[in-house]
Amino acid sequence: MNETIQKNLEYKKYVIDSKLQYFKPHASKIEKTFAEEISFSLNRNTKFISPKFFYDKKGSDLFEKICTLPEYYPTRTEIRILQNLQDELPSFIDNSYRLVELGSGASVKTRLLLDIFTKSQEKTEYFPIDISEILAESSEQLLQDYDNLHITGIIDTYDGGLEFLKNYDKKNNLIIFLGSSFGNFSHIDGENFLEKINSTMKSGDLFLIGLDLVKDTKILESAYDDSQGITSEFNLNVLSRINDELDADFDLNNFSHYSIYNKDEQRIEMYLKSLVNQSVIISKSNLSLNLKKNELIHTEHSHKYTLDQIKTLLKKTGFNIIHTWLDDDTYFSLTLVSKN
Ligand code: AVI
Repeated sequence: MNETIQKNLEYKKYVIDSKLQYFKPHASKIEKTFAEEISFSLNRNTKFISPKFFYDKKGSDLFEKICTLPEYYPTRTEIRILQNLQDELPSFIDNSYRLVELGSGASVKTRLLLDIFTKSQEKTEYFPIDISEILAESSEQLLQDYDNLHITGIIDTYDGGLEFLKNYDKKNNLIIFLGSSFGNFSHIDGENFLEKINSTMKSGDLFLIGLDLVKDTKILESAYDDSQGITSEFNLNVLSRINDELDADFDLNNFSHYSIYNKDEQRIEMYLKSLVNQSVIISKSNLSLNLKKNELIHTEHSHKYTLDQIKTLLKKTGFNIIHTWLDDDTYFSLTLVSKN
C-alpha cells in the first residue's frame, strides 16, 4: 500500500451526496484540553487567554457583527479588493484549479471567489478546511446557490488539512487565507505556518493571503474599540465561556475591554483589565486566580504590515510573489504567491 493511500486512511470519509463529502480524522490528535490550556495561561505572572477561545457560538456571532461595524474596515475593504479581482484573477489561474480555503466559507468573500471559478469551470471543486462543524451548515447553503459546485470539507486543523491535501491528488490548488487572520499569529508561529503551507504546496499550486496594513493609529484603535461596544462584548465573552464551560465565577462587571496600538510592534494588543482586586475560581482548571486592580489579561495580538514586510516575509518562507492587490486607501492587501 503506498503512503498516499495509507495517509488518507487516517480520515473517515462521509459521502452526503454526489456533490458533498467530508473527511474527518479517525481519532482526534492528542491536544491539550480547554481546561488545561486555561490552567497554564492564567497561572502565570503575565496572564493570557489564547484568541482561539473567542469563537464559541456567541463569540462567532459577535465576530460576524464586528465585520459589519463602520469602524472595522478590514472586512469591507477586503471585499472591495476581491470585487476588483473578478476581472484580473482569471489571468493567473486556468480552469485546472480548485479553491481551497483555510477557514470555512460562510462569507461573502468565499462567494466572490466562487463566482469567478464557477463562471469559467464546468465543475468547480471547493475544499474548505475547518475544525468547526459550521462547515457543514455553510456547505449546504453554497450548494443551493451554485449548480456546478462540488464540496469536499476537511474537518481538521489547518495543519492537518494541509497535510491531507498534500497527499490527496495532483490537481492544482488555489489556497486562500483571508481576513488577516494571519495577523493573530505571533511572528514565529506565523512564519512556521507559512512554511507549513509552502511545504504542502505542489509546483502548480497558488496561495492568496489577505493582510492588514499599517495605518493611522486612530483608525486602527477605533477598529478595535468600536462605539457600539461590540468588540468589548466579544473580548469579555471569553470570560463567560470560561464560566460556562470550566465552571468558573468571573464577574464580568469587574473587567473592562482594553485595546491599544503598539507602534513599535505594529500590532493591536487586546486585553481584559481587572477593575478591582479580586479572586476567581476556575474549578475545572483547578485554579484559584488572584487579580490585582488594573492587572491585564492578554487576549489577542493583531499584527499590521508594511508592503515591504509582506514581501520579505513571503520570500523568506519560500514564496514567489505573483501579484499584490490593494484598495485605494492602501488599508488592506491581497497577495498571490507561488512556491519557489
Ligand atoms: C479574526 N481576526 C482577523 C480579527 C482581527 O482583526 O484581528 C479578530 C478581531 N479581534 C477584534 N476584532 C476583530
